[in-house]
Amino acid sequence: MPYSPEEIAQRQRFDEFYLKSQSPVLLSIERMVCGCGYGGNSWTTRDEADRIGAMLGLRSGRRLLDLGAGAGWPGLYLAQQSGCDVVLLDLPITGLRIASERAAIDRIASASFGAVADAATLPFAASTFDALSHSDLLCCLKQKRAVLQACRQVVRNRGRMAFTVISVAPNLSPDDHRRAVENGPEFIDSESSYPTLLTQTGWTIKEHSDITNDYAQSCERQRLADQKWREPLEELIGVSAYAERGLGWTNKLAALADGLIRRELFVVVSDSK
Ligand SMILES: C[S@@+](CC[C@H](N)C(=O)[O-])C[C@H]1O[C@@H](n2cnc3c(N)ncnc32)[C@H](O)[C@@H]1O
Repeated sequence: MPYSPEEIAQRQRFDEFYLKSQSPVLLSIERMVCGCGYGGNSWTTRDEADRIGAMLGLRSGRRLLDLGAGAGWPGLYLAQQSGCDVVLLDLPITGLRIASERAAIDRIASASFGAVADAATLPFAASTFDALSHSDLLCCLKQKRAVLQACRQVVRNRGRMAFTVISVAPNLSPDDHRRAVENGPEFIDSESSYPTLLTQTGWTIKEHSDITNDYAQSCERQRLADQKWREPLEELIGVSAYAERGLGWTNKLAALADGLIRRELFVVVSDSK
């Protein structure tokens, strides 16, 4: 299926982000917000990544697929911590190139591989992976059902997948729904709830946590970090983009305070094939 103009524009924005992501100011902000420095742009914190690694049972000899892997957070980190092999998959090549350089520095180049591909049409044989992960990927794409189906195909029988996702809170008025969509990731809207989509695509939920409070705290740290590094950030992205970004954090925090947006962590296991 051809990509829509919105999807193409989004990919370009991610590409531009990854180009800037290794600048000292963005790495400092990332350390303050998420406790890591890979050039990430999900809200996954180091604590969450550790939780995900433990829940996936990663260890040497296991093969992990991290979808929407960006510049290697948290896929590379999980591989380094656990000794597993990892395939990092994304559409923009810029992030994957950065990840490959980082893998060499971290001495895990022989255990990490990059793949430029769409998460909805995965170029791997059935049952290739022991475990899958993704961080705020599903809210950045339209084809949520197709991605969950493709994931189930490539994971081994009874394999696990752990992921975070941002969604619109249920049962909102039309005005509140619009505000949630305006203040969330671009493709936050979903035709069905994630528990429903997971059940329909052959996954059983093992754990499901509401991590909205942690997300709100990360957003607040993001707002403060932007203020702390105002000058170098303005230099990097420009004065008007800096002001727009600040307004974005304020509006997002207000939407979170009003209970319009959620962030959840799911750990699921594939149904028997
Ligand atoms: C929120 S970012 C997370 C990036 C990285 N994992 C991190 O935590 O920093 C979502 C990523 O999903 C990727 N993405 C969006 N649509 C995709 C698709 N259809 N297939 C593969 N990756 C996709 C984007 O390019 C982006 O890098």
